[in-house]
Amino acid sequence: ILSRRKTVPKPKVNQSIQKEDSKVVTQMDIEDIGDKMAFCRCWRSKKFPLCDGSHNQHNSAARDNVGPLLLLRNAD
Ligand code: FES
Repeated sequence: ILSRRKTVPKPKVNQSIQKEDSKVVTQMDIEDIGDKMAFCRCWRSKKFPLCDGSHNQHNSAARDNVGPLLLLRNAD
C-alpha cells in the first residue's frame, strides 16, 4: 500500500484583506495622491492599500525585507 502524503498548502500572501472577494483590486484617482504616498506591498497594513509601517513587524518576525512602493510627485 502506497502512503499518501498530505499536501500542505503554501502560506498565503494575503492573510486578511478583503477575503470575501475573489480578487483584491484597488483603484485610486491619481489626483488624490498628492506629493507623496506609500503603498503597502507586504499585505499586513491596517490601512491597506496604504502602508502603515506594519512591514517592520512582518520583516522582524519573518526575517523578510519587504517595504512600500513610494509614489513621489516631482515638484518642478
Ligand atoms: Fe505593508 Fe508598509 S505596511 S509595506
